[in-house]
Amino acid sequence: MNNQSPLPNEAVTPNPGRRKFLAGTGALSLAGFIGGGLSVPSLALAKPVSGGSQLLGFDGIPASTADEIAIADGYQADVLISWGDPLVDGAPAFDAEGKNSAADQEKQFGDNNDGMSFFAMEGSRDRGLIAVNNEYVNEQYLYAHGDSKAHDAEDVKKSQAGHGVSVMEVRRGQGNRWEVVRPSRYNRRITANTPMRFSGPAAGDAALRTAADPQGMNVLGTFGNCANGKTPWGTYLTCEENFDTYFGTKKADFSLTAAQKRYTLSPADPERNWSDFDPRFDVAKNPNEFNRHGWIVEIDPFAPDSVPVKRTALGRFKHENAAVTVAKSGELVVYMGDDERGEYIYKYVSKGKVDRANPAANARLLDEGTLYVAIFDGDRNGTPLKGTGHWVALVQGQHGLTADNGFRTQADILINTRGAADVVKATRMDRPEWIAVNPHDGRAYCTLTNNSKRGDEGMPINAANPRPDNIYGQIIRWDEKGDATAQAFDWDIFVLCGNPIAHPQGIYRGTPNITEQNTFNSPDGLGFDEAGRLWILTDGKYSNKGDYEGQGNNQMLVGDPQNGEIRRFMVGPKSCELTGITFTPDYKTMFVNVQHPGEEKDSHFPDNSPRPRSSVIMITRKDGGVLGA
Ligand code: FEO
Ligand code: CA
Ligand code: CA
Ligand code: CA
Repeated sequence: MNNQSPLPNEAVTPNPGRRKFLAGTGALSLAGFIGGGLSVPSLALAKPVSGGSQLLGFDGIPASTADEIAIADGYQADVLISWGDPLVDGAPAFDAEGKNSAADQEKQFGDNNDGMSFFAMEGSRDRGLIAVNNEYVNEQYLYAHGDSKAHDAEDVKKSQAGHGVSVMEVRRGQGNRWEVVRPSRYNRRITANTPMRFSGPAAGDAALRTAADPQGMNVLGTFGNCANGKTPWGTYLTCEENFDTYFGTKKADFSLTAAQKRYTLSPADPERNWSDFDPRFDVAKNPNEFNRHGWIVEIDPFAPDSVPVKRTALGRFKHENAAVTVAKSGELVVYMGDDERGEYIYKYVSKGKVDRANPAANARLLDEGTLYVAIFDGDRNGTPLKGTGHWVALVQGQHGLTADNGFRTQADILINTRGAADVVKATRMDRPEWIAVNPHDGRAYCTLTNNSKRGDEGMPINAANPRPDNIYGQIIRWDEKGDATAQAFDWDIFVLCGNPIAHPQGIYRGTPNITEQNTFNSPDGLGFDEAGRLWILTDGKYSNKGDYEGQGNNQMLVGDPQNGEIRRFMVGPKSCELTGITFTPDYKTMFVNVQHPGEEKDSHFPDNSPRPRSSVIMITRKDGGVLGA
């Protein structure tokens, strides 16, 4: 199957400055359905969307460029915890001049909070645990010296200690606002140096063995922890994303393997210079250490002494999140995106079935199963923004995944998942970020955040990624033909983001559910509440100029999956992204992360300190009601 759009041969006519390389055949005309002209009556979103949602019970708010949180009328946003706040027993207070040591940081809340999950404490409405990723550190704020590179081994240790995952106990206080419990035996930091183990088909493989771990079974740490997932048996999944940026070498004649290139290793000038002071990250000295990252890690937040497990059956790539659902037939299904331009969407289906009555019986579900990758085809009748698709199993011996092509074992496929997906000609997507499953109809939604290279040579547009130079992104959704374990699906685009202020006409205007009032770019975080409201968080450009005029800072919006309406609910402070989303079981408190405020050195969030701090925010309704209703 090819993944080119089989749509009519009409040239795309975007802004002439954006003319790019398009598919040889089947370039898609969107100009027709947006803003009149060609009528496409079967396109669900072709009618203007301007209110009337039964699901959304608040008024949308204007864009904002202020260095503070703006939120819908009747709602309140408060800080729960910020980078550097004491977490584990004995942790010192945050030092606003960056003087905390690596040992201090190991006990303090980590930096750059991203994905997170709330776990209710059994038998209590008012106590729970939150596990939250600390994706990376903002070096320019981490060190007292203010440079963005580590000066010595202590700096590297502090950076490593700011990464990973934080687990904290929380309890309900006044007005559905929660507070961190200190001390608590559950409070825990997992860092880039915490001992973990491998499980699944690639555990013990020769490519995972190092001098420090000759069996290839044990590994230190997790980092680049982007978003997350939560299992039905109450464990947390943390997803390793931009792990390549931590590896480097000074060795002048180091040459990359094909697999290292495929995972964008660029060792001469790594984004972080850990390899200068910690030989584990020097790819010339320890080439296999690179293979030991890029996985999904399972953590039991209720067992503070438990050893986190890297689950190799879920594949190795730049994991964004893990959207977990249970098929009607009982199998565990995990949808996953690989966030890089032109990368793929995956699905994992467990061999066994979920046993809700006996959590221990689920231990093998993330080790034994099948990993699939998605192919998105256009609609047979040529209707834009919808089509069909299917899943291709990444199983050794099938679909060209043979020794001749470099895949001798299933472990080879799981360690070089990107290479395996290339062989089966999966569809190259516009940077898959979060996936979320609508609890009401099982449809999966995925944010394709943007792709400046779409339309460049080698990355032509296709039906599901129809815009060259896709600066705004889109949210695609698919409906499995049958159960979540199905091999085929129908898909459509829920929203093609755009900006009617900067582009009143044409494909950069966006679908009709984008208006001058709700315009945004780069959807990233995504989550459904119990009622089926789709919460959308952005990580995009915040210049508020040119293509981004009128969009303001990064923001959170809410969509109605039925009528397509989208309203802006909240806007973050300057140069942050909003990400991470989890609810208490009564849906009266929501936790959202303000990540990297002031990355452009323009914010004092949240406490007017010269060092802005990523923070977990809790959102409540002043009348105590359900959020968004
Ligand atoms: Fe860590 Fe793709 O966002
Ligand atoms: Ca992020
Ligand atoms: Ca993200
Ligand atoms: Ca992003």
